[in-house]
Amino acid sequence: MLKIDIVSIFPEYLKPLELSLLGKAQEKGLISIKIHDLRKHTTDPHHSVDDTPYGGGAGMVMSAEPWGLTIDEISDNTTQFDLIILTPAGKKFDQQMAIEFSKKENLIFACGRYEGIDARVGKYYAGQKNFNVHEVSIGDYVLGGGEVATMVIVEATARLIPGVLGNPLSLKEESHTLTNKDGSLVEYPNYTKPALWRGLEVPEILLSGNHGEIAKWRIAQAERRTQELTEE
Ligand code: ADE
Repeated sequence: MLKIDIVSIFPEYLKPLELSLLGKAQEKGLISIKIHDLRKHTTDPHHSVDDTPYGGGAGMVMSAEPWGLTIDEISDNTTQFDLIILTPAGKKFDQQMAIEFSKKENLIFACGRYEGIDARVGKYYAGQKNFNVHEVSIGDYVLGGGEVATMVIVEATARLIPGVLGNPLSLKEESHTLTNKDGSLVEYPNYTKPALWRGLEVPEILLSGNHGEIAKWRIAQAERRTQELTEE
């Protein structure tokens, strides 16, 4: 079972993870998701989690110690953990990374806010023998914090775990799992009944029953769409 621990100063922000596919996956015991409040691990009376940056500059930086205390409480010295620190300066998340994460046993997500987390947190855990540390971004834009990014990654990762999706075959032919010799493709267009809607017909080939030709047509469509995306 994949165990997911998420650390945030806004635990309520992560409530949607209890719903729908991920809620069911937890009920079925395929994954577990625990949300931790960073402020529970502050030692000062104001429960502060941030401070001004060394070297000056705008904004605040999240202090290392509350993160250290929280991650220490979640982890132990022997189990293997993957610590995922959300930051716009991280490696870009993609389907390949989702596949990699879905094969792990323990994922800890650190949702930074403000100007990010003191850089020594990642460095410290990278130095622990039972930790892998990944700095991850979900795209080239800046969010208010790592919570939404965590939800994106957890959803993309959890649906790859066997049993989470009702029909595992739907994983086979979707965007970014479809490949040709040049790499990953986005999905071909899909249609359902009726065959004629507001004057628009379903491509005839899909009604032909010729599965070989349909498969060829779909690959060609996926290639065309992928090509169009790279031209923009
Ligand atoms: N925190 C702020 N922006 C982010 C992004 N694009 N990806 C991950 N974490 C973030």
